[in-house]
Amino acid sequence: MARIEVGILGATGMVGQQFIALLANHPWFKVTWLGASQRSEGKAYAEATAWRLAAALPEDVSKMVVETAAPGNAPKVMFSGLDSSVAGDIEKAFAGAGHLVISNSKNYRMDSTVPLMIPEINGDHLKLLDRQQSERGWKGRIVTNPNCSVIALTLALAPLRQFGLRTAMVTTLQAISGAGYPGVASWDILGNVIPFIDGEEDKFQPETQKILGRVVNGAIEGHPVVVSATATRVPVRDGHTVSTSVQLEQKVTPDAIIDAFNCFRGRPQELQLPSAPPQPVVYLADRNRPQPALDVNRGGGMTVSVGRLRACPVLDYKFVALGHNTIRGAAGAAILNAELMREEGLL
Ligand SMILES: NC(=O)c1ccc[n+]([C@@H]2O[C@H](COP(=O)([O-])OP(=O)(O)OC[C@H]3O[C@@H](n4cnc5c(N)ncnc54)[C@H](OP(=O)(O)O)[C@@H]3O)[C@@H](O)[C@H]2O)c1
Repeated sequence: MARIEVGILGATGMVGQQFIALLANHPWFKVTWLGASQRSEGKAYAEATAWRLAAALPEDVSKMVVETAAPGNAPKVMFSGLDSSVAGDIEKAFAGAGHLVISNSKNYRMDSTVPLMIPEINGDHLKLLDRQQSERGWKGRIVTNPNCSVIALTLALAPLRQFGLRTAMVTTLQAISGAGYPGVASWDILGNVIPFIDGEEDKFQPETQKILGRVVNGAIEGHPVVVSATATRVPVRDGHTVSTSVQLEQKVTPDAIIDAFNCFRGRPQELQLPSAPPQPVVYLADRNRPQPALDVNRGGGMTVSVGRLRACPVLDYKFVALGHNTIRGAAGAAILNAELMREEGLL
């Protein structure tokens, strides 16, 4: 089978690099086009990027010339890791020109015609695309994945919906790779915790409600969960930790919750998509887990690790979840979206 040609917008950034690493040996997709800013345009990729991944930069990609981030000779399927200050206009231009844009940026996540997808939870939200062309006038499409911490949180909350999920109180400990490259100055982050990430906390409730929501008459009816979040930046390289307390309508035992985490599966597992982890959520019984240094790469970085389930004297239960922010929280999430869309005949 011939592989589908794909392009990467924002190819030189942290998320762009992760796209290149994850797509290097992908069975269905082949990277044939790279786009970034004027700073990178016209340069060989190896020269334009500050490669920061442990995986080697693939030889063929290293020699590719970075293009202007504008539609023209780019392939139909585009992954985007663009800075959000420019993603709005550039992604719209690509969608307008007939491309399918699968984006990590915040710009279109809350658009009522744009799926905000985690395929294990809400692959049926692809139905929103039926309205996109007529309401937005784009010849192409935009599909998004959620904020990196929201993905880890929501994968841990989705198995709890069956118990009547009402409230989640969340504090995040977010890795520096989440701030892009060069990101936070070493002077500011070494030996420190920064209790503020601009614009981050406001995403938690609306994105979680949309992701966990249902499609009713072609629109999303949001899940009623109330989410309160505090976002912090910590001196960790990769992996966002999310300390969470939840309130549930039903009385439920800890064993039932642990079972719900471990048994949670979705369409990607059913279809055995190439990037699907066998188990999207794994509960770790050791009382000092999950830890970014030990657990962030579980399931190729696509599994969310959960631990420390215990009673909460304020709400009902509390636990700690950990997800790889540039894999499950970004590039891997977008690739899984594309894989599901291929299986649904939407590529
Ligand atoms: N890092 C994460 O963990 C994470 C997780 C989820 C979502 N996201 C989202 O993903 C996106 C990328 O994040 P990142 O961490 O990879 O950021 P980053 O390292 O700062 O990379 C930003 C990318 O955008 C490109 N860019 C900047 N200005 C441009 C312009 N005017 N025209 C075209 N391209 C331009 C940059 O190209 P140059 O190199 O040429 O400047 C670079 O390729 C952001 O929207 C972010 O919020 C990030």
